[in-house]
Amino acid sequence: MKPFFITTAIDYTNAPPHIGHAYEKILADVLARYQRQRGREVFFLTGVDQHGQKVQQSAEREGIEPQEFADRISEKFLSLWKTLGISYDAWAATTAPVHKAAVQQILTDLKDRDWLYKATYSGHYSVRQEQFLTDKERGPDGEFGPEWGEVILLDEENWYFRLSKCSEWLAKFLETHPDFVTPDFRQTELKNAAAKITGDLCISRPKSRLSWGIELPFDPGFVTYVWFDALINYISFAGYGGEGTVARADFERRWPCDHHVIGKDILIPAHGVYWPCMLHAMGFADEQMPHLLVHGFWSLRGEKVSKSTGNVVDPAVLAETYGTTALRYYLMRDAVMGRDADFSEERLLLRHNTELGNSLGNLVNRTLSMTRRYREGSPKPKALPDDLIAHLAADAASVKAFVSQMDDAQIHAGIETMVDLVNRANALVDSSAPWKLAKDPEQADRLDAVLATLILSARTAATLLLPVAPEAAVEILRQINLPAIALTESDPGDVLPAGYQCGEPKPVFPRLEIPAGEVTP
Ligand code: ME8
Ligand code: MG
Repeated sequence: MKPFFITTAIDYTNAPPHIGHAYEKILADVLARYQRQRGREVFFLTGVDQHGQKVQQSAEREGIEPQEFADRISEKFLSLWKTLGISYDAWAATTAPVHKAAVQQILTDLKDRDWLYKATYSGHYSVRQEQFLTDKERGPDGEFGPEWGEVILLDEENWYFRLSKCSEWLAKFLETHPDFVTPDFRQTELKNAAAKITGDLCISRPKSRLSWGIELPFDPGFVTYVWFDALINYISFAGYGGEGTVARADFERRWPCDHHVIGKDILIPAHGVYWPCMLHAMGFADEQMPHLLVHGFWSLRGEKVSKSTGNVVDPAVLAETYGTTALRYYLMRDAVMGRDADFSEERLLLRHNTELGNSLGNLVNRTLSMTRRYREGSPKPKALPDDLIAHLAADAASVKAFVSQMDDAQIHAGIETMVDLVNRANALVDSSAPWKLAKDPEQADRLDAVLATLILSARTAATLLLPVAPEAAVEILRQINLPAIALTESDPGDVLPAGYQCGEPKPVFPRLEIPAGEVTP
């Protein structure tokens, strides 16, 4: 079977990671872990976008070389991904030789096949956005808005990619492949935007203006435009460049990518227009186009997450303060796939303390404590009564629902399924009242059956939590002393193994509080 191939955007190394970066990597990590749990081979690629004007400018401000600056920021990303448990299989850093070689090989090939040409262009140029502006970018007042920053007049010779040659193909491709982008409304947006795109794509920068990039192999006065360089990471680090090698064979097996996980700001034009057109020009067939999974944006109390918002949203600080489990759980729980979300520490704590602590943690704790107290850790149920069979059948249905939600990348819905399952189990504790059953010798069989059912439910809950909060889920399974269930569509099972003995309960989700003096308005 083809490996499950998932990527994230590669993060700019001009500034340290923020909560949006963390969200995207966790999202991809959850899907990667879920697929591994399903028994699928996974290739999860993430990394850093190290070239471009922003990095060159930031380095200049500090008086150091761009490589040194990019390396320093890249370290911050690497260290954060370690803290957050991001289980990537390959690291895409765009200054790596394997990437440079692939980009240059692709450029040479495209030029040989007349996809590239040199021309002079004069026009308005946004320094901040690193792009030439056309009349379309003018506001209603005829001016270029503040979002473009400083706009200068520039007269420049450059290399162009014949994007316009692809416009008919792209329109037809989007029409005939409605599943290219998820969610649907984003594909609609893309179709509308793609229809308006005219002209070719400038893919070079003269070294006099920008030296920090990959040199054009056929014109050393120029470096490659950062987006053209960056998009190629998705294939260069998957083995594309290694003609006739093992790496290339791996690429043939992995491609096309199942999900390019990206934020909504880089769908149009980069991933939705440039990338498919680049692949098309390189000779990829329509069936070999990747899939784009577009997520929404996190804001911070209604404000844009920006570099100046400081520590409050530094994901490394949040992980340090509240733990990786709480942070991962909150970000996956509160953002509906594809929609925007607003970050608040209060909600992070609330989600953790209620759903993980009060519900799941309490279920595990009560179940194991009662099992040890009433049955010395080893319930021996006879045939289960109908109500408990029905309870476990509902759990099996939850597993099925979870699988279909996670297959659709609806992580928030998958978590909700887990929470519902936990709530049902806690309701069973309350309605069956094992502490009462324990006092009545005639209810001995019932007590064994209830305890066994609760243990099985807790195991299923921990299994569903594994992709989102692996450390906590593994610890719960350790305490329960059972392996995770196989995430196949079959029944999770209704019997404990012979000689089963539960472990000792210890709090997995200690109650969190906002550190004194740090409460935010
Ligand atoms: O765009 N909420 O890098 P980047 C959620 N290097 N996601 C957010 C976000 C927010 N507030 N802010 C940013 C780049 N993101 C390019 C990508 S890929 C070939 C090159 C997401 O560091 C953003 O949408 O600006 C993107 O997917 C990722 O973080 C990296 O953003
Ligand atoms: Mg950005």
